Amino acid sequence: MDNPKQVRGFSKRSKAEKRQWVAQTFAQQPDATLARWSSFDHSDADVQARLDDFSENTLANYPLPFGVAPNFVIDGQTYAVPMVTEESSVVAAASAAAKYWSTRGGFRTTIVSTEKVGQLFFTWDGELIQLQERLAELEETLRSAAKELTVNMERRGGGVLRIEVLDFAELPHTYELRGHFETCDSMGANFINTVLERWGEVLPAAFAKTGLAEPGLPEIVMAILSNYTPACVVRAEVSCHIDEMGRGAGGHSSAELSKRFHRAVELARVSPYRATTHNKGIFNGIDAVVLATGNDFRAVEACGHAYAARDGQYRSLSRCTLEDGEFRFWLELPLALGTVGGLTKAHPLAASALDLLGQPSARQLMRIVAATGLAQNFAAVRSLVTTGIQAGHMRMHLQNILTQLEVDAEQRAAATAFFADKTVSVAGVRAWLEG
Ligand code: MEV
Repeated sequence: MDNPKQVRGFSKRSKAEKRQWVAQTFAQQPDATLARWSSFDHSDADVQARLDDFSENTLANYPLPFGVAPNFVIDGQTYAVPMVTEESSVVAAASAAAKYWSTRGGFRTTIVSTEKVGQLFFTWDGELIQLQERLAELEETLRSAAKELTVNMERRGGGVLRIEVLDFAELPHTYELRGHFETCDSMGANFINTVLERWGEVLPAAFAKTGLAEPGLPEIVMAILSNYTPACVVRAEVSCHIDEMGRGAGGHSSAELSKRFHRAVELARVSPYRATTHNKGIFNGIDAVVLATGNDFRAVEACGHAYAARDGQYRSLSRCTLEDGEFRFWLELPLALGTVGGLTKAHPLAASALDLLGQPSARQLMRIVAATGLAQNFAAVRSLVTTGIQAGHMRMHLQNILTQLEVDAEQRAAATAFFADKTVSVAGVRAWLEG
């Protein structure tokens, strides 16, 4: 290979060889880079091997803080919710909102539904109506072809719920067999994909058996679960009398605070620009718990955003009403989560996150994650309509700057006191330290 920055057979090299090659080829200071990578190695070789195996071409561990937001009262139970995030104010904000609502009845949650979806796409020269007429027979054949794969899930109370067939106005002769699944405590990706692929293997024979081969046999395009799960939905809610809201940090009365809060949530309902930021604030909380418990935050994000646009406009996932003297604030969103399989037990810290939560079922985890998203959203919007977001952010920002400038404990305390009511910037902090 002529280009020295390209490589062949990289994945087959040992970890030490990979480190050497990447550091020597790309790092500005190869020795320092190698030393830094190995300084993050886990002291237990078995744990390190397990971490390495989660991905490919692993060079080092990339630690993120694993924290908790205590004082979460959810459906009458108290939790310290584990959160993994790199954004400094997220855990503090969730904790503050959890404490606030713990004295106002806590979070109440409802599981609306728990159905997942998988798609088997194929092309075929027949018409939709023919497929619909034979669907019951087709379904029976497909179910029995996948029996050995579904029997365990059925024993746990899940399995294939139903199968439907759909076409696409814009793509003639292209069809979808849509499977609806209950996957109990697993997120279900592997289960659904395995079943769908089996259906794909047997579909031509199933067509022949069902008398659908006349226009020709189907050609499989692909089989994959859908990360859009609008029938796997949880709702989290808080409410209190408007008078109980308490004086906001900006000096607003309970009634003013409630009104300002309500208007902000309404803005996120009607403005997609605001809704995106509003929902980002919700996912600050959701992703942190999803990540801490070893779940797939990309799937959760993709699904949440698609759901936010379900009526054709991207809107806030949370809503607020002020009626009959009552402040009500709630969040409804789809969450496809697992508490068995995947990383949930394999990652030692995901396992301890689930342990802190009392080994929840997937449904319980949906409730906890939704409550955390609502708490995060509450904290952000309350700051925005009272003091503004920068006051809290800047306090955390100051600590990061002080760490970056390598100050000692005494200087840190003095700087924290000095900047308590001032605007923070790297240059300003540096100047103050030097001055
Ligand atoms: C920052 O990470 C999140 C917020 O922007 C959310 C919001 O605006 O609602 C504060």
